[in-house]
Amino acid sequence: MPDALKLGFGPFAAPTRGVLVVFCDDSLKFGPATRKAIAPAAGLAARAAKAEAFTGKNGSALELVVPEGLKVARLVVIGVGKTAELKPKDFVSLGGLALGKLPKSAAEACAFAELPGGAMRADDAADLAQGLQLRAYAFDRYKTKRKDDDKPPANRKMTVAVGDVAAARSAYAARAAVAGGVLLARDLVNEPANVLCPEEFARRVGALKKLGVAVEVLDVAKLKRLGMNALLGVGQGSAHESRVVVMRWNGGKKADAPVAFIGKGVCFDTGGISIKGAAGMEDMKGDMAGAACVTGLMHALAARKAKVNAVGVIGLVENMPDGKAQRPGDIVKSMSGQTVEIINTDAEGRLVLGDVIWYAHQRFKPKFMVDLATLTGAIIVALGHEYAGMFANNDQLAERLSKAGELTGEVVWRMPLAKEYDKLIDSKFADMKNTGGRMGGAITAAQFIKRFVSDKTPWAHLDIAGTGFDSRQNDINKSWGSGWGVRLLDRLVKDYYEK
Ligand code: BES
Ligand code: MN
Ligand code: ZN
Repeated sequence: MPDALKLGFGPFAAPTRGVLVVFCDDSLKFGPATRKAIAPAAGLAARAAKAEAFTGKNGSALELVVPEGLKVARLVVIGVGKTAELKPKDFVSLGGLALGKLPKSAAEACAFAELPGGAMRADDAADLAQGLQLRAYAFDRYKTKRKDDDKPPANRKMTVAVGDVAAARSAYAARAAVAGGVLLARDLVNEPANVLCPEEFARRVGALKKLGVAVEVLDVAKLKRLGMNALLGVGQGSAHESRVVVMRWNGGKKADAPVAFIGKGVCFDTGGISIKGAAGMEDMKGDMAGAACVTGLMHALAARKAKVNAVGVIGLVENMPDGKAQRPGDIVKSMSGQTVEIINTDAEGRLVLGDVIWYAHQRFKPKFMVDLATLTGAIIVALGHEYAGMFANNDQLAERLSKAGELTGEVVWRMPLAKEYDKLIDSKFADMKNTGGRMGGAITAAQFIKRFVSDKTPWAHLDIAGTGFDSRQNDINKSWGSGWGVRLLDRLVKDYYEK
């Protein structure tokens, strides 16, 4: 786990070196402790604000180098806009922005978690700290020739000055756990496929045992016995064996049915015999972002000791063309007993998910199931890189996911399911085929998965092809692999299933 930043909390005290970060609203007002700390440079700051047309609107920043009268090397003033309008996700973003405003060379900084009305609430300061941690992440383990000034100093130190240090520290513990899950997910998505094959992915999930998560790895022999032939068919052209990993966190009551999260883990997707074009194929190392999210989420839930029973099930395969690879026209019998005609071997994610969803349902009888998958290019055409596509058989679950999305900024947009779309995947030779044509491609993919879900179990499918990697860059994410979904699903669990 990368510990990107040495983060601590302390009382309001003017730092004597490094960078001081402070916050003001859109009337350029500061809180009392901030005012005191920057008093000798107040006139300078006001002049700089004028010269730079800095008005304190949310997300803006003003930077002063060696400000007269202060001991720090630099003063950064960040605008928060209207304080009454700030939501949790805004505090997280402000933390990210604050870190982004540090010069690369800065080894030490202090941020005053204060607004014009006084010290930030402990929860808000903790959200800010989480944003600092998320922004500090960089995946640079394969850069051997970086110039020193490219990289922030190792063990960079950041102090967040707060009103109640103990309260902020305890509020931050859970946020740090969740940030750890996000960074783990990002690491998995960023890792190249020559390193992160299904076996290696499974091995890395083993690290969650230290947090109290039970981890089981199902190998090919076991998957054959279970009848997961849809999943195995996808992996049969690869030199790397397929795996399914089951993670269990039991933080809830013994008799309580678990909540279940299922992830697509295609470690590399060449398309198989229906091979993809060369342009951009390197991105398909991220085709396991759903599985990475589930792993990061299980890390987060365990690390913050969530009072819930949760299971995570991920299907790990590599989709390769080869003499042993599956062909268009092949028919496979899934674990559910339903048969599938393969039309396009590049529509592999749904084959993997069909088997793991069926398995998760049979074994755990969960309260609900949410699956995540970088499933279709079509969802990117529909929604771009902002919203993930959401398909659900249950309005309550869909609404809860939407709300959690608004609170965390990991937003989802509901898409339709209907029997008219379902018809499009009927097959001449088998129970269904694995593609439904180009039109409505994200929907027919969701209809396929739905055929492996019981109507009685609330289920939502999140198509994260546009958000799992190469998504919109923002103040808390500069990484290709975004770790998208960990904060969303953690919030879903926290707000609705830990009561
Ligand atoms: N992994 C891809 C979807 C994808 C594309 C994710 C781009 C992220 C970025 C998936 O396995 C796939 O190839 N889907 C096909 C389905 C088609 C053959 C029915 C697609 O979307 O073109
Ligand atoms: Mn594919
Ligand atoms: Zn794929």
